Amino acid sequence: MSTSGRESQGVTIWFTGLSGAGKSTIANQLEKILRAQGRKVEVLDGDVVRTNLSKGLGFSKEDRDTNIRRIGFVCQLLTRNGVMVISAAISPYKEIRNEVRKEIGNFAEVYVQAPMEVLIQRDVKGLYKKAIAGEIKNFTGVSDPYEPPDNPEVVVDSSRETVEESVNKVLSKLKELGYLSHVPAGSHGR
Ligand code: ADX
Repeated sequence: MSTSGRESQGVTIWFTGLSGAGKSTIANQLEKILRAQGRKVEVLDGDVVRTNLSKGLGFSKEDRDTNIRRIGFVCQLLTRNGVMVISAAISPYKEIRNEVRKEIGNFAEVYVQAPMEVLIQRDVKGLYKKAIAGEIKNFTGVSDPYEPPDNPEVVVDSSRETVEESVNKVLSKLKELGYLSHVPAGSHGR
């Protein structure tokens, strides 16, 4: 398919990965750079969505699927209105991610990786410690499944790359797919 003319189109940039892998950090930096380009940008962060749109949902497979379908629905509405939408939720199940991909169309999946040892060591929210101790049940990557994507548009590893390097990978892919006319300057090496 031709990528011409996509520079003004909306797209959903879908981050997936374990808790603490760096999805929100990379997403927020990406948001800043895209907005500085004059693009319309919106971020749907799992932690934030769960305080409003998905308030009351838990972490069973059913509730996670509902959460992801809701996020996907909003992404679809915004994308078709020319917005660059960034989703940053664990979204552990491949089938549901592929379902929203299909519905949205203009879609780029970013797999944010980091080894489990690193996540446990970082443990920014103190949740891994609790999950390993059995105080939190069904914690993704510890006692609940995470299904990595088979063919993500971008793979980043936050244990080996800086935030800027990861953001640049995403920007380059968006350019390659035709959603950006150029890779924004000012996103190099900072
Ligand atoms: S998702 O599975 O439905 O995509 P989402 O990204 O919205 O998850 O929320 C994940 C966040 O909820 C984690 O970063 C963490 O702060 C918190 N959380 C609380 N309990 C769990 C759990 N059992 N598994 C994963 N994350 C949890």
